[in-house]
Amino acid sequence: MISFKSDYSEGALPAILKALADTNEIQQGGYGDDDYTREAIDLIREKINHPQATVHLVSGGTQANLTFISSVLRPYESVIAATTGHIFHHETGAIEATGHKIETVFAQDGKLSPALLATFIDKVAYLHMPLPRLVYISNSTELGTHYLRAELIALWEYCQSKGLLLFLDGARLASGMQAGDLRYEDLAKYTDAFYMGGTKNGALIGEAIVINNPSLQEYFVYNLKMRGALLAKGRLLGIQFRELFRGDTYLSIGAYMNELAGKLSAGIREAGYEFLIESKTNQIFPILPRTIIARLEQKYAFYVWQPVDRERAAIRLVTSWNTATKAVEAFVEDLRACR
Ligand SMILES: Cc1ncc(COP(=O)(O)O)c(C=O)c1O
Repeated sequence: MISFKSDYSEGALPAILKALADTNEIQQGGYGDDDYTREAIDLIREKINHPQATVHLVSGGTQANLTFISSVLRPYESVIAATTGHIFHHETGAIEATGHKIETVFAQDGKLSPALLATFIDKVAYLHMPLPRLVYISNSTELGTHYLRAELIALWEYCQSKGLLLFLDGARLASGMQAGDLRYEDLAKYTDAFYMGGTKNGALIGEAIVINNPSLQEYFVYNLKMRGALLAKGRLLGIQFRELFRGDTYLSIGAYMNELAGKLSAGIREAGYEFLIESKTNQIFPILPRTIIARLEQKYAFYVWQPVDRERAAIRLVTSWNTATKAVEAFVEDLRACR
C-alpha cells in the first residue's frame, strides 16, 4: 500500500534522527533550558528578522492553537475562523473547551479576507455576543490554498483597524510559503503570532509558536505549563527545530512536497480529471468516479474528502518530505489504466 493520506505518515528526516542520536548522551537542562532549544530559537528569530519575538516549542498543532488562543482571549472574547478552519472542525472542541466561542465565516476557498470578515464584524451587536478579538487563519489552508503576501497584508491592516488580533496556524507553513510569495519577515510583520509546523514538515513531532506582539508575550509560558504543553525533555523539540532552521531545510521540504504534488496534479489533469479546488501546495483534491476510487483504494491509501455528485467524489492526496517520484508516477499510471 502506498499512502497519500498525510504528510505525517513517515518518521523524520535522517538528519534529525542523526542529530537526536549524536546528542543522546549529552546532559542538558529541562523545560526548554537547553542549548539546542536556545539555538533553534535564535535561528528562527534570525530567519524572521524579529529579535524580540518569543518562540515556544510545543508538541502538536492542536496544542499550539489552544495554548495560544486561550492565553490571549479574555473570558468573554471569541475567535473568528473560516468554516473550514482546523480549529472549528478538527480539534474536538479544544478551543471551546477553554471557554471561547469560535465564530465562523464561509469562505469558498478556505481563505479569509477583509470583505468576508466584514460580513460578520459589521453585524456584531457587541454587548449580547461574545466580543470577537482574534482572527484565526492557516497557511496553507485546510483546502490546500495559500495566502499571497498582499492578502496577508490586507488582512493585517483590516485587523489593525478593527482592534482584532491575527494568528496564523502554520501546520503546513513551508508548503504554503513555497506556493506563493510570503517571506519569513512577512510573518513577523503582519501577524500578532503564528506557528511553524514541524510535524508535517519532516520533524518527528513539534511546532514552533512565534509571538510577535510584545503585549502577548509575557505570561504565555505559564499557560503552556498549566496546559501540560511544556515538555521536560524540551531538547527533543529544540534539536529538531535546530536542524530544520539551519540553512534552508525547512523551506526546501515545502518546495519538494509541492513539486511532487504538482506532478501528481499534472498527471491527473492529463488523464482527464478535474479538481475540487486549485491547489499549488502539498494537498490536492481531484474529483474521480467512485468506481475508480474503489479500484485505486486497493493499492493506495487516501481520504475520500467529499461527495461531488452521485457518481463522483473528491479525494485528498497529500505528499510528504519522503514521497517518492516513483509513487507519484505509479498512481498516475494506475489512474490512466482505470479508464
Ligand atoms: C492546519 C492544521 N492545524 C492544526 C492541526 C492539528 O495538528 P495536531 O494533529 O498535531 O494536533 C492540523 C492537523 O492536521 C492542521 O492541518
